[in-house]
Amino acid sequence: MSSEKIKLLQDMTDKTIVVAGAAGFVPGHLCEYYLKKKAKVIGLDNFITGTKENIDLLSKYPNFTFLECNIYEQLPSMEHLKIDYVFSMASPASPIDFAKIPIEIMRVNSEGTMNLLELAKNHHARFLEASTSEVYGDPEIHPQVEDYVGHVNPIGPRSCYDESKRYAEALTMSYHRKFGVETRIVRIFNTYGPRMRPNDGRVIPNFINQALEGKPLSIYGDGLQTRSFCYVDDLVRAIDYVMHSDDVTPFNIGNPDEYTMLDAAKFIKEALKSESDLAFHPLPQDDPKRRRPDIGKLQKVSDYRPEISFEEGLKRTTQFFREKLQ
Ligand SMILES: NC(=O)c1ccc[n+]([C@@H]2O[C@H](COP(=O)([O-])OP(=O)(O)OC[C@H]3O[C@@H](n4cnc5c(N)ncnc54)[C@H](O)[C@@H]3O)[C@@H](O)[C@H]2O)c1
Repeated sequence: MSSEKIKLLQDMTDKTIVVAGAAGFVPGHLCEYYLKKKAKVIGLDNFITGTKENIDLLSKYPNFTFLECNIYEQLPSMEHLKIDYVFSMASPASPIDFAKIPIEIMRVNSEGTMNLLELAKNHHARFLEASTSEVYGDPEIHPQVEDYVGHVNPIGPRSCYDESKRYAEALTMSYHRKFGVETRIVRIFNTYGPRMRPNDGRVIPNFINQALEGKPLSIYGDGLQTRSFCYVDDLVRAIDYVMHSDDVTPFNIGNPDEYTMLDAAKFIKEALKSESDLAFHPLPQDDPKRRRPDIGKLQKVSDYRPEISFEEGLKRTTQFFREKLQ
């Protein structure tokens, strides 16, 4: 690895980027980030958890093309295109989806990832797998560093996601080793921001929507389990840094500021001036007790720093959900 810091491209007029999952939350923001840098962006999605509204937002950019497809069945023909980057981001990621659509999750992270790796191989494109902190399972070390191999229950209710993402990482490394595909892997920690689904079951949209509707905020277990929340704009920049790094091994990305669920709930109640009570529910099986990324590896090779405070990120996200409720 060179010791030079990663530089980001500002004008990407001559680049073509394929983003699988474009109608979703993080991939939608990533598309917009590259559209603003003038790249040609081709979005793929089957709307299993994404929305047409997100595609309408992206369609305002003349350099955006949308192709509706299920990426684990067949990708649309893109033979005639010169593709520079392929982003594999089409996986449902919310715990409520793990119970509802486990087979679809396993297929998109296995067969879907393979189709995208084939696309990258055939076009000599760079490939990035959007993996997850869930590959660490319920971690025994804290904070989590990239060479920790994890503590995952292979048959638990979260395993459809955790294990298929671990497979996706293994497949990505195999394409790199066997075919020389230029692959990158990011392990994304909890991310939040506008365009999440209000009913998507993840903690920040849950708390904000419960507070806005005057309902009690749901705390699972004693609320002392921790998470670290990254605002989506900070995450998308981190993805761009990793795509332009020269290291094929995984990078953790996220914001290392750590909150207990109780603190996060109190913070949101105060920020929204909400009178809502807290409602305690049983802790789901295999719920990780502590989650905080060590992002030192990315910071060694780049000037990357999360810039949006939890307070500011919540303000922007609340604004989005307020508008949705009207
Ligand atoms: N948001 C987070 O906190 C987080 C954390 C860790 C990892 N990730 C990863 O980031 C990526 C995006 O997550 P998100 O939170 O934005 O989820 P999301 O559900 O909002 O986005 C995923 C998109 O992929 C699409 N999709 C799913 N299966 C598909 C298929 N077979 N064919 C075509 N499209 C399909 C969905 O319709 C959706 O638009 C995922 O790979 C996820 O595992 C996200």
